[in-house]
Amino acid sequence: MRLDKYLADLQLGTRSQLRTYIRKGRVTVNGRPVTQPEYQVDEGKDTVVYAGETLTYRKYRYYMLHKPAGVVTASRDRHDKTVLDLLPAALRRDLFPVGRLDKDTEGLLLLTNNGELAHCLLAPKKHVRKTYYAECSGAVSPADLERLAHGVDIGDDTPTRPAEVRLISRTQGQYCIEISITEGRYHQIKRMIAAIGGTVTYLKRLTMGPLSLDESLARGQYRALTAQEEAMLTDT
Ligand code: URA
Repeated sequence: MRLDKYLADLQLGTRSQLRTYIRKGRVTVNGRPVTQPEYQVDEGKDTVVYAGETLTYRKYRYYMLHKPAGVVTASRDRHDKTVLDLLPAALRRDLFPVGRLDKDTEGLLLLTNNGELAHCLLAPKKHVRKTYYAECSGAVSPADLERLAHGVDIGDDTPTRPAEVRLISRTQGQYCIEISITEGRYHQIKRMIAAIGGTVTYLKRLTMGPLSLDESLARGQYRALTAQEEAMLTDT
């Protein structure tokens, strides 16, 4: 791959900044200064040193975002702020969100440039588990929760797959649950709650596959996955 792309993939600057830097002879490959940005680097073999630091190439990047309400899960949108707008331009370049959260839903969203992994996490056959915290209005009975857990008709060809449901609290006309599902149908949680006669008033995703939302991230904040999280994810 081109030397300027190699450096850009590591978020070391914009392509044009990096070209200038390379032309000044500040980047070495296998101990020799290289001044052509188009120089072909073998990312598996060559030793590239930038600003005195030996680089390790990474093709894929993974970020956990605490999605706030009010932003859309898209890479670009004409009217609304998107989840990618929450990251600096140099980081967001080739990233995309894995799956969708509704505009008013908060919580864990994975951003990556690894299309194959995203495809795998979203494949219906993989049944990747997602856990949500939901505040709902309406009355709820133990029988309603049983129905949610067994699967409900939400107007699709088939009922929802079995879910795990835990009642956290209930007062008159309001209840909070934690619910884990292994599908990703459109507005699934809201439609499941509607199927038992309720309305979701607040929704937050807590987990996706092996990842849990880092509660130290404030709404709108993101961080790179740790090496351990990355390993768990790529083993999925
Ligand atoms: N289910 C929903 O209804 N909305 C979401 O954003 C995610 C799951």
